[in-house]
Amino acid sequence: MDKLAEYNRERWNALVEAGILYSRPKLEMDEATARQMIDEEGLLGDVAGKRVLLLAGGGGQQSAAFGFLGAQVTVLDLSDGQLEKDRLVAAHYGYDLDIQQGDMRDLSRFRDASFDIVWQPYAINYVPDVRPVFAEAARVLRGRGWYTVTWHNPFTQTVDDTQWHPEHGYPLKWPYVDGEIDPAIFGTANWTVETESGEQVEVEGPRMFRHTMRTFLNSLVDNGFHIRRFSEHRTWDENPEPGTWEHYKSVSPPYLTVWTVKE
Ligand SMILES: C[S@@+](CC[C@H](N)C(=O)[O-])C[C@H]1O[C@@H](n2cnc3c(N)ncnc32)[C@H](O)[C@@H]1O
Repeated sequence: MDKLAEYNRERWNALVEAGILYSRPKLEMDEATARQMIDEEGLLGDVAGKRVLLLAGGGGQQSAAFGFLGAQVTVLDLSDGQLEKDRLVAAHYGYDLDIQQGDMRDLSRFRDASFDIVWQPYAINYVPDVRPVFAEAARVLRGRGWYTVTWHNPFTQTVDDTQWHPEHGYPLKWPYVDGEIDPAIFGTANWTVETESGEQVEVEGPRMFRHTMRTFLNSLVDNGFHIRRFSEHRTWDENPEPGTWEHYKSVSPPYLTVWTVKE
């Protein structure tokens, strides 16, 4: 592991320790919940028996869903704490799970074409360059296999969501370029984490990067991925309070997902 991976592994372990939402395992799965979590539009079809790689997908959410639906799941993640949650859900539901600790940029432990599906939740913004990740995903995926990947809307990352103004809205502040999001611009490297008991705690966050549309989409194309579907994650709240995260999400959806098939 390089220095960035070591650093972000520590940061993610600390976020898990604090009880961040993304580390809460799903222990009450049913078929509808499982399908909605991993394949809301039914693109993947029946995943029973399919070889699935959850790339940077620790935390016991997607492994619970794919495992519940009968897939053969491998989860690779940096964080010990996140993988512990996957161990927990596998024991809870009683299915086999291949747990691998590692960096999404290096999948050399897996043979070519060893997966039918590579499913990557929001995680690629923790590495500076999407290209090695896409190249590895393409290598380990069989032909006609699905690669689905979520990333941070790069336009959203140019806007300051903490500075709502009733007349001017949210200020467009930062340059639209590939590269690291400098925590100095927010005045802090900390994330405010809501614990399971509802308390707010400050935890130093991982290093994060912006991937522009051009870089992201062209790199998928360059690695032989055909885009089949695209989704944007906005708020479910119909009347969010201005200045809140839900309101911000209603004007600028922060997470984007592309569903691709390898040629
Ligand atoms: C927002 S969580 C997403 C996973 C979670 N299952 C979910 O749905 O929210 C981001 C995950 O990326 C992992 N991660 C960050 N950098 C990574 C890297 N370079 N390689 C592998 N995993 C990484 C973190 O440990 C964390 O589990």
